[in-house]
Amino acid sequence: MKIEFAPLQGYTEDAYRRIHNKFVGGVDAYYTPFIRLEHGGLRSKDLRDIRPEFNEGVNVIPQIIANGGKEFQTVLDAIREFGYSRVDINMGCPFPLQTRHGRGAGLMQAIDRVKEICDIVRATSDVQFSAKMRLGLDFHDEWRNVLPILNGTPLVHVAIHPRVASQQYKGEVDMEAFSSILQDSVNPIMYNGEIHSVEDIKRIENMYPNLAGVMIGRGLLARPSLAREYVDGQEWDEDKRNTLLRTMHMAFLEHLQGIIPNEMQLLSKVRCFWEYMEPEIGKKPYKKIMKAGNMKNYLKAIAEL
Ligand SMILES: Cc1cc2nc3c(=O)[nH]c(=O)nc-3n(C[C@H](O)[C@H](O)[C@H](O)COP(=O)(O)O)c2cc1C
Repeated sequence: MKIEFAPLQGYTEDAYRRIHNKFVGGVDAYYTPFIRLEHGGLRSKDLRDIRPEFNEGVNVIPQIIANGGKEFQTVLDAIREFGYSRVDINMGCPFPLQTRHGRGAGLMQAIDRVKEICDIVRATSDVQFSAKMRLGLDFHDEWRNVLPILNGTPLVHVAIHPRVASQQYKGEVDMEAFSSILQDSVNPIMYNGEIHSVEDIKRIENMYPNLAGVMIGRGLLARPSLAREYVDGQEWDEDKRNTLLRTMHMAFLEHLQGIIPNEMQLLSKVRCFWEYMEPEIGKKPYKKIMKAGNMKNYLKAIAEL
């Protein structure tokens, strides 16, 4: 079963992906945070994120968020210039800033727009596509309108996060709906949502033997060795995990020091590394890291880990 690193805006950018891939890996692919149009072009930070020189040796799949065929084609053309032959379609972003413009999960109530995008997918023979979607924008059965269109479109897979947009990233995942999608989909299905341990991966694998794989987001940010532990069939002890965190963190800090001269800006960015790690490092160390007001105290908190 494949394991892929889900896209997480603000976290899984090029440096984090490179560092994860170099020091631990274990995942089959990394998705970029969504790439979108702004004032008719791509944002410079999105362009940087997909530049081949920043992604060398890493299996990276750019993800597009678009409200229909026109936006989709423009972003796709820009991405193709960098030589990518795999692209992911975002049909799941829950943030109103995107959904009210018909992007992300907003697409799930705009069937004609989904059709436009799928027409482009079918007409683009030099790129393979996957999609990542929710159950719906407001209702748990909106996927029923979208799936027939996806079924008529050859996709590498469809990754399902079985929540609706209003739940954002909290609340129950609807496994019953997920099972129905798995049954009704012509394209391979990946599962995404609340995987935090090797046991969680194995449970999903046992429940759905014909799954294409799992996509993991916050669980991998919290425990970067999770996929490696699953692939190698061996859990890492605390010491080994702690060493990995320190190594990855130092590499991340060194990278950021080279591009962010301002100490407070640097601190706020590098701190993101620990954001989801409270269960992994413990409440007290976590609080110390999050509350450190300057670089000296921050590094002291990390040295005490
Ligand atoms: C901070 C944050 C940023 C995210 N950014 C993206 C994104 O750019 N594209 C996307 O498809 N999903 C995005 N997601 C959703 C994740 O890819 C994933 O579907 C979600 O976190 C559920 O999986 P998990 O429980 O394994 O984290 C984001 C989620 C979070 C919490």
